[in-house]
Amino acid sequence: MSELLPMDRRDGVIWLDGALVPWRDAKVHVLSHGLHYASAVFEGERVYGGQVFQLAAHGQRLLRSCAIMDMECPYGATALDRAALAVVQANGIEEGYLRRIAWRGAEQLGVAARATRTHVAIAVWPWPRYFSSDASLRLAIGDWRRPPPESAPVLAKASCLYAIGTLAKHAAERAGYDDALLLDWRGRVTEATGANIFFIQGDALHTPVPDVFLDGITRQTVIGLARARGLAVVERVIMPDELAGFDACFVTGSAAEVAPVQQIGAFRFEPSPITRQLMDDYACLVRQPAVELAQTAAQSAA
Ligand SMILES: Cc1ncc(COP(=O)(O)O)c(C=O)c1O
Repeated sequence: MSELLPMDRRDGVIWLDGALVPWRDAKVHVLSHGLHYASAVFEGERVYGGQVFQLAAHGQRLLRSCAIMDMECPYGATALDRAALAVVQANGIEEGYLRRIAWRGAEQLGVAARATRTHVAIAVWPWPRYFSSDASLRLAIGDWRRPPPESAPVLAKASCLYAIGTLAKHAAERAGYDDALLLDWRGRVTEATGANIFFIQGDALHTPVPDVFLDGITRQTVIGLARARGLAVVERVIMPDELAGFDACFVTGSAAEVAPVQQIGAFRFEPSPITRQLMDDYACLVRQPAVELAQTAAQSAA
């Protein structure tokens, strides 16, 4: 299976600091600041029919994440987007997953790192399914919690934050689940380890306020799709003891897309026609040409 092939033993080209290089030559020095101190930010994007869905939104978020992490990106939004498209084209990828990452280099190795240069790499590969399960997902309630905004750069898509997700997901998988639902330090429901979460109650969607976690691009897209279908979307504080009162649940993310959830810890959810509808709407939207997409976004924002 292609997803089991180690990432460094594939073929193709990777964009590294301004040039396309052979896949296996895209290397980082072991004394890079990004490796020792997780001074890195990244984006996960999907390619549908040779086009990157929400390309500009992802590029802008990468730059925002750099700014939050006090990293100066040597490339602007247009250059980053052009480079992403060049990688997709050079690798001949029609359907795949695109990763853009920026990290601090090896000029300085200590906690302070203002003398380091920011490097950028962009790679793309086929990755048809984010969750290994084909079925509706089962989530454990994780023991690890999302930290307060004074303790971590919570609104950046920063590598350092994924330590929490990796530990929570490992524990969930060991217990036989697909993923973990993370609470924050106040005990509020936040998101899964790599996807936002929605609950369905009657004809309304309920989703946590993204105040201390990523307001996902897919989350925003799905809110637009739901409203276009006349569904109410309520962004509010959700506590774990409320889970018993929801009919259905799904998660959203660029990699995960829209994926139904059947269980969170002891709570069970039914399959929902609303989830099915939003999955279909999302699948349709991602294949619309970029111009139509911009119009749809403008309409749903209006
Ligand atoms: C922690 C986390 N939350 C949410 C998301 C969903 O974000 P998006 O829809 O922008 O991919 C992701 C995926 O990138 C993520 O890693």
